[in-house]
Amino acid sequence: METPLRESNLNPDPIEQFVRWYTEVEKQSVDMYDAMTLATADASGMPSARMVLLKGFDKDGFVFYTNYSSTKAQELEANPRACLVFYWKEVQRQVRIWGTVEKVSREESEAYFQTRPYDSQLGAWASHQSSIIPDRNVLEKRFEELTQKYPENKVPLPDFWGGYRVIPAVFEFWQGRPSRLHDRIKYTKKDETWEIVRLAP
Ligand SMILES: Cc1cc2nc3c(=O)[nH]c(=O)nc-3n(C[C@H](O)[C@H](O)[C@H](O)COP(=O)(O)O)c2cc1C
Repeated sequence: METPLRESNLNPDPIEQFVRWYTEVEKQSVDMYDAMTLATADASGMPSARMVLLKGFDKDGFVFYTNYSSTKAQELEANPRACLVFYWKEVQRQVRIWGTVEKVSREESEAYFQTRPYDSQLGAWASHQSSIIPDRNVLEKRFEELTQKYPENKVPLPDFWGGYRVIPAVFEFWQGRPSRLHDRIKYTKKDETWEIVRLAP
């Protein structure tokens, strides 16, 4: 499906424009519509990118959850800026979002953690994400021990795990069009308003 991005029907607020596109891919059950690439960079400027899942968004930003000791967390500690990329193949759309990053409140992480399946809760405890482990057994043994330690519905939020919020400063919406004459619309936050420009594809 190809729907042109026209200046005449763009929402002046990029979050509202994102809501419009996100609602469409959600409704159409586009494959992994909630998966996004998260790009960070370390203190030397070396970039790093990986997939994470979008777990919530609103006017304040875009939230994902992870381990606060992971490589991405260390990079965000040194350089609290990130870029997110969504690609929705079925509708030929890409969205890029640049912004600054903050941890979400413990209350927010706690509320989200309690909605996760039991296995995922134990998985968060079991994995010291991004650290070197000697073999897979270590992980499975730890998981087994955790099932003894924490019964279902009684798994506390690990203090090394929680959410981050990307607070957007720039958005780019890309719509694939015939002859590679794609639409690209960029929103940049200027004070409290959003400046909108069209970019060559
Ligand atoms: C589709 C997909 C979704 C993922 N979602 C998450 C996620 O929400 N949070 C997370 O910590 N890792 C997620 N991962 C794993 C990350 O890509 C990555 O391997 C992990 O977070 C460690 O990254 P780091 O060493 O750069 O910190 C996901 C991987 C895939 C393929």
